[in-house]
Amino acid sequence: TKPKITIVGSLNMDLVVTAKRHPEIGETLTGQTFSTLCGGKGANQAVAAARLGCDVTFIGKVGNDAFGEEMIENLRNEGINVDHIEKVDDTESGIAMITVNPMDNTVIIVPGANALMTKDVLDAHKDAILNSDIVVTQLEIPMETVDYLATICGENKIDLVVNPAPAQRLTDNIIENSTYITPNQIELTQLADFHPGVLNNYAHKFVVTSGSKGCYYTVDAYKVTVPTRKADVVDTTGAGDCFNGAFVSHIARGQSLEDSCNFANVAASLSVEKFGAQAAMPTMDEVMEKLSSSKK
Ligand code: RIB
Ligand code: NA
Repeated sequence: TKPKITIVGSLNMDLVVTAKRHPEIGETLTGQTFSTLCGGKGANQAVAAARLGCDVTFIGKVGNDAFGEEMIENLRNEGINVDHIEKVDDTESGIAMITVNPMDNTVIIVPGANALMTKDVLDAHKDAILNSDIVVTQLEIPMETVDYLATICGENKIDLVVNPAPAQRLTDNIIENSTYITPNQIELTQLADFHPGVLNNYAHKFVVTSGSKGCYYTVDAYKVTVPTRKADVVDTTGAGDCFNGAFVSHIARGQSLEDSCNFANVAASLSVEKFGAQAAMPTMDEVMEKLSSSKK
C-alpha cells in the first residue's frame, strides 16, 4: 500500500517572468516570457510526493477565484485528495511574483488565503492528520498553526517534517515535536541566529539541503554529506520542494536516512532541469532510472 502523506501548507499561483537580468531600482526592463504556473511550497511538495508514489492529502485554503479553482484542479489531476482544501470568500488566492534570470530568481509572495490557515482549520480536518504516516508543513502559513500542528503530531505520535521556508523563528514546541527539520543553507544560518544552541541540541533532526552540493545530516556530531548528480539547470524554482516531497516519500516507505537523502537529491536534480515548480517534479520512473545509472 502507498504511504499516506498529509501536507498542511500553502498554494500560490506563480506569476513568472523570465528576463536576462533583474531591473535596477526605477528601471523598466523588457523581459522574454510570462507564465502563470501552479506553485506554493505546500502544493509543490504535494505534487512531488504524489508523483513519487504516495497517497497525498492536502489541507489548505484558496480564494474563491479563478486561480484557486485552477490550483485545486491541478492537484486533483495529480491524484491528490483535495477534499480538505477550503475556498474562502473576501480574500484572493495566494500568489508569487517570480523573476527568473540566468543567474538567480527573485520572489515576492502575497499570502492571501494562505494567511487564513488559522488553528481551527486543523481541528476541522483532524481526521486527515491522524490518518497519516507522515505530516509535512512549511512556513507559508501562520506560525501558530504550525505550532498547533506540532502539538497534534506530538500528542498522537505522528511523524512531522517541517520545511522551515521561508525562515522564521520557530517555537520550541515545533522543534521538539518535529521528526526532521529541512532548511536550505541560508535558512539554516537564519535559524541558528534565531535559536542559539539549536544545532547542538537538535542536530540529529536537521537535514540541510545545499543545492548542487547535495545535502547533509549529522550523526553523533559527525556531518554526513550526501552528494548529488550534476544537473543541467533550467529553473531552480521548487527544487527544495521537490527534495522535501521526495524525502518524505522515501522515509515513509521505511527507507534509511541516507537512502532517502540520495533519492531526494536525485529527484531535486531532475526538477531543476525543467521550467516551473510543479510541472518539473519527476516521476518515480525518472528517479529510478537516474539512480540505477549512477550505480553502474
Ligand atoms: O519554493 C518555491 C515556491 O515558493 C514557489 O512555487 C512560490 O509559490 C513560493 O511559494
Ligand atoms: Na524547475
